[in-house]
Amino acid sequence: MTTSGITAVRVGGTDDIPELGRLVVDVGDRTIGIFRVQGRLYAYDNVCPHQGGPVCQGRVMPKVRENIDAEKKAHGMGYDRSEMHIVCPWHGAEFVIATGVHAGISTLRLTSVDVRERDGEIYVSV
Ligand code: FES
Repeated sequence: MTTSGITAVRVGGTDDIPELGRLVVDVGDRTIGIFRVQGRLYAYDNVCPHQGGPVCQGRVMPKVRENIDAEKKAHGMGYDRSEMHIVCPWHGAEFVIATGVHAGISTLRLTSVDVRERDGEIYVSV
């Protein structure tokens, strides 16, 4: 399917990406990682903005949050599953899947790819 120079390419079916699942596919000369978080799909080029590592093939994990009580005392670390991250396997850069932005450096971000789901099929626009 082509619209004004942009091609929508079917990359899989809805069942191929369950909640917190991922699919990494080659589309032309690009490799694209597609993730599902809280029911929504997000897609990015599989190129880390740090040094080009295969970021979409890293670990998917929740944000780590320090537990601090009302008196500002720390009680260890815990996971916050409301914010899921992808961790680049080369040097550990961590990106928020829902935004593509680095967890600590707001100017560092993944290159997003348009992804849509229709009638049980998933398409990316390239
Ligand atoms: S290339 Fe991804 S953290 Fe360095």
